[in-house]
Amino acid sequence: MRSYLVAGNWKMNGSLAANAALVDAIAAGVSIAPKVEMLVCPSSPYLDSVGRRIAQTGIFLGAQDLCEQPVQGAFTGEVHSSMLIDLGCRYVLVGHSERRALYGESDALVAEKFAAAQAGKLIPILCIGETLDERESGQTEAVLSRQLLAILDRNGIAAFANAVVAYEPVWAIGTGRTATVEQAQSAHAYIRSELAKNDAKIADLVRLLYGGSVKADNAASLFSCEDVDGGLIGGASLKATEFLAIYAAALAA
Ligand code: PGA
Repeated sequence: MRSYLVAGNWKMNGSLAANAALVDAIAAGVSIAPKVEMLVCPSSPYLDSVGRRIAQTGIFLGAQDLCEQPVQGAFTGEVHSSMLIDLGCRYVLVGHSERRALYGESDALVAEKFAAAQAGKLIPILCIGETLDERESGQTEAVLSRQLLAILDRNGIAAFANAVVAYEPVWAIGTGRTATVEQAQSAHAYIRSELAKNDAKIADLVRLLYGGSVKADNAASLFSCEDVDGGLIGGASLKATEFLAIYAAALAA
């Protein structure tokens, strides 16, 4: 049985005080339930303080990015997987569309980051998804295949036994425009079938999250899709009541 994962991507937001208030309010509404894991991903300067606050709450800590380098060294501004482990992280996002689009991360670099995360004993949450142009020109599946293949070529199918994939259509991120239930289910089923070509069992067990304007009022229908195993939530994860309502939708799914 796949458990759900409800992950909050706080992006470049927050302060010591705001994060403390947010995470305390979230923690007050979380019950330790094996069916749903909750994860928060603050900006890296706040991993330590947020990590301390969520100790014993059952909420997991994740980072938004990591360095692809296998060993520490002269890489100014970068953060090594061992540092994230040190701060209590369990998960790390790799290949978020904002990293790909704004910071030029290629499929090859994302594959290196995925490898670095696993080598460091972090669980990568691989973000993939098409732009609006790509969807409208009928390339959605080709884009998903290409992004998956880069990881499969570098890391092999076995790597997906301990990874999460987030389908995040770029046109739905931060736009208020959510994929329909049919669009989400069809993309998720496609991702699972692509992985199943390599290993049916691993494909069946890997958790596939949907991301892109998930809100309290659309979470239940998205989570009811057979191949949607949770969500990667940006804007709505910055409001405790909204994020907890999304968590409740996963518990009820
Ligand atoms: P959003 O962001 O929920 O604000 O659309 C999702 C994400 O970027 O992970």
